[in-house]
Amino acid sequence: MLEEDIFEAFRDTMRHIAAPVFAITTKHEGVRSVSVATAFSSLSFDPPSLLICVNQDTSIHAPLMKAEHFCVNVLGHSHRNVADICAIKKGEERFSVGNWEEEMGVPVLADAQSSLVCRTADRHRFGSHTIFVGEVVGARHRENAKPLTYFDRRYIDISQAPDLIA
Ligand SMILES: Cc1cc2nc3c(=O)[nH]c(=O)nc-3n(C[C@H](O)[C@H](O)[C@H](O)COP(=O)(O)O)c2cc1C
Repeated sequence: MLEEDIFEAFRDTMRHIAAPVFAITTKHEGVRSVSVATAFSSLSFDPPSLLICVNQDTSIHAPLMKAEHFCVNVLGHSHRNVADICAIKKGEERFSVGNWEEEMGVPVLADAQSSLVCRTADRHRFGSHTIFVGEVVGARHRENAKPLTYFDRRYIDISQAPDLIA
């Protein structure tokens, strides 16, 4: 199989996998950073841990390499504006929308569906990205189960999806 065929099939595969949307945050030397991500996985319950994959070219990458903590905020569909501002603004301006608080030194979206504050336990570079392993040291779940979901290059409200009748 040609390299470009593999690339295209892989890209289309990812396009058709519905993924929840997260606002990843950190703070280093007093400077806050936030970035939108879908590359997230739970890792283990013992200890409670997760991983995120972040492109080395993104503005949040360098702070994540140095900061002791980061936060994974699970966005609800009311946070479309938080995702949108990350696409059009840089740096501190991204925090101009959203109800941001601080916990363990990192920005936490106060009304996110869930917020998981992590201690960075490991970092592993692979290709263009770095995998950050986080041990969950603070967790809030707010029962607002209307996750903002990314599917086929657009945001959807999966909570409105009808049940599939067999
Ligand atoms: C829905 C969505 C999901 C994304 N997921 C990731 C991701 O998992 N990892 C990543 O490094 N960048 C991801 N990005 C891209 C980053 O959010 C960011 O826009 C881009 O890397 C540029 O960031 P910068 O302006 O802070 O450098 C995603 C963007 C969107 C819109």
